[in-house]
Amino acid sequence: MGSVITSEDLSRSFDGRLALDGLAFDVEEGEIVALLGPNGAGKTTTVRLLNGVLRPDRGHATVLGLDPSVDGTALRRRTGVLTETAGLDDRLTARENLVLVAGIRGMKTAEARRRAGDLLERLGMAPDADRLVQGFSTGQRKRVALALALLHDPEVLFLDEPTSGLDPAASRDVVELIADLARERRRTVIVCTHFLGDAGRLCHRMAVLDQGRLRAFGTTEELAAALWRGTVVDIDLGRQAGEREVAAMAACAGVLDSQSTPGGAQLRVLDREAVPPLVAALVNRGVPVYAAVPRPPTLEDVYFALQQGERADEGVGRT
Ligand SMILES: Nc1ncnc2c1ncn2[C@@H]1O[C@H](COP(=O)(O)OP(=O)(O)OP(=O)(O)O)[C@@H](O)[C@H]1O
Ligand SMILES: [Mg+2]
Repeated sequence: MGSVITSEDLSRSFDGRLALDGLAFDVEEGEIVALLGPNGAGKTTTVRLLNGVLRPDRGHATVLGLDPSVDGTALRRRTGVLTETAGLDDRLTARENLVLVAGIRGMKTAEARRRAGDLLERLGMAPDADRLVQGFSTGQRKRVALALALLHDPEVLFLDEPTSGLDPAASRDVVELIADLARERRRTVIVCTHFLGDAGRLCHRMAVLDQGRLRAFGTTEELAAALWRGTVVDIDLGRQAGEREVAAMAACAGVLDSQSTPGGAQLRVLDREAVPPLVAALVNRGVPVYAAVPRPPTLEDVYFALQQGERADEGVGRT
């Protein structure tokens, strides 16, 4: 099976400014890709281009083998979109909103009512299903909008900030729902988010945009390996490590970098073999060590390392 989404040199300007500049990436079936990046980076523009509601002024994309700028209508029957500002009819109830849209999309009424009921239930909206949307909170609206995006069981989902405005329990439910769709039903998902924790739990690969350019695309492990050597170790001393303790740790074999943290210190070591001598060195100095845990890099680690690189690059001028 080929890629479900491809893009080549995909670009779009607004008022002479590039909002997206030469995006090239491929997304596989059943894959969840997180689109990350600061405000104005080009995430929503990417989603709009891929869903055919915006035309590129350079480059090309395919989604499910269709060109979004040519076959937008056919494509949108097979994709589901959650936009930043979901269009719900305030004068209708949550269920009526869903059934109405299902009808427009050609679904039979009985099937529409069943799907609407299932989705509202799954998204924790069963008690509010027959209330007017007018009185809904931000999170309630978001859940109905998400149900709308999923209504016709789309093959590809474009979700623009699906968990913003949701309470922690609802966020967790939405993250699980999206993960299930990819895992069990091989749905392909592009999710724009500022919640790095959600992105880390959800995505297989991350695409980091900044000022319209794709700065990095890959798994957390791949990007981490390209960014830095070694493994992070959190040292729990029950208090912040002192300067001398940090220096003593830095002097141990295999330690690449060390800094104090509120609970002790964080080190980067060549590999986990560096950990036992390090702990021994501390204990020999009479420093109690509560834990020394090597941990794999997180999506947050990678994201912030990339951002730091960006800022450093800006200092020396960008190509
Ligand atoms: N319809 C439009 N008219 C003019 N400028 C636009 C339009 N849509 C996007 N832009 C500009 O394109 C750039 C990228 O915007 P985009 O909405 O894609 O960012 P984003 O990454 O989704 O940001 P956010 O995290 O704030 O949602 C911004 O500079 C924005 O001002
Ligand atoms: Mg956006």
